[in-house]
Amino acid sequence: MQAVSDPLDLFSNAYQQFLVRAWPDQTSRLHKAVQYCLSGDGKRVRAQLAMLVCQAYGKDPRLAVTGAIAVEMVHAYSLSHDDLPCMDNDDFRRGRPSLHRAFDEATALLAGDAILTDAFRVLSDKEFFSESDLLTTDQRLRSVAELALAAGGHGMVYGQDADMYWTGKRHYDLQTLEKIHRGKTGALLGASAAVGAIAGGASSGEVSHWREFGVMIGLAFQAVDDLLDESKSTGKSTGKDKAQGKLTYLSLFTNDEVLNLAKRYTESALAHVPQQASANAVTEFAQNLVFRKK
Ligand code: IPE
Ligand code: IPE
Ligand code: MG
Ligand code: MG
Ligand code: MG
Repeated sequence: MQAVSDPLDLFSNAYQQFLVRAWPDQTSRLHKAVQYCLSGDGKRVRAQLAMLVCQAYGKDPRLAVTGAIAVEMVHAYSLSHDDLPCMDNDDFRRGRPSLHRAFDEATALLAGDAILTDAFRVLSDKEFFSESDLLTTDQRLRSVAELALAAGGHGMVYGQDADMYWTGKRHYDLQTLEKIHRGKTGALLGASAAVGAIAGGASSGEVSHWREFGVMIGLAFQAVDDLLDESKSTGKSTGKDKAQGKLTYLSLFTNDEVLNLAKRYTESALAHVPQQASANAVTEFAQNLVFRKK
């Protein structure tokens, strides 16, 4: 297969069709909540990363749509649980009321549970997501393992727990901060790059390099997210990190220092790109993430 179209367009078309098909019961509060959580004005950074890494192997990025959708689903669930009153207590997300505000807390919790579980169905069950048939059984199984590693108690959830643990503790230490951010944000970006590499036919060794590439991009991404917390352009509440006493890059550094650190993380990430890949597009994408405004 040859690369035929813009990865983001390919992803968005497949995603929209899938959303309507997979949770069709408009009389169900749960299905409506799942659709609400998965839609909205997300940047789809993780999906684009997966598709660009696949494309770096000369493959049609459509092969990476299965992994891209699964990672975006886990990401969306993580955001709705992150916004709950027992965590960051945020009323806005993607420019509109957060899931528990649009529905209620129990529904937000359950929709997150459903999305997390169904993400693994996307990767493994072609009756649920027909395009998963484009991958071999081996590629699907390796993708399941990557996403499980990134989402669970050694990845995103580990980081989220550490983030909550250190909130309000006035503990200012870069090593602790990097441990939190590698988990809560780096892990899923690592999985995005890894599932893209698997779809592109990369070897296990190359996939490990892409995973670390994604984790480092995740550190850069979270550094910029911390910077943007005070900004009004994100579609989220402003100034919450400081008000809640979160340990962020701005607890340790000035704005300029954080931006420079984000650039350095990106350079370290790029050092992990395997030589076998033609990585111009993914390199440019990663470098531009540092300068995003939302
Ligand atoms: C926000 O992620 C949470 C972090 C991990 C920093 P994004 O900034 O990618 O959120 P969306 O998907 O665009 O809404
Ligand atoms: C959350 O980090 C990362 C995850 C949801 C795993 P933040 O709490 O900084 O994300 P935002 O700023 O609410 O998007
Ligand atoms: Mg949080
Ligand atoms: Mg938050
Ligand atoms: Mg934040």
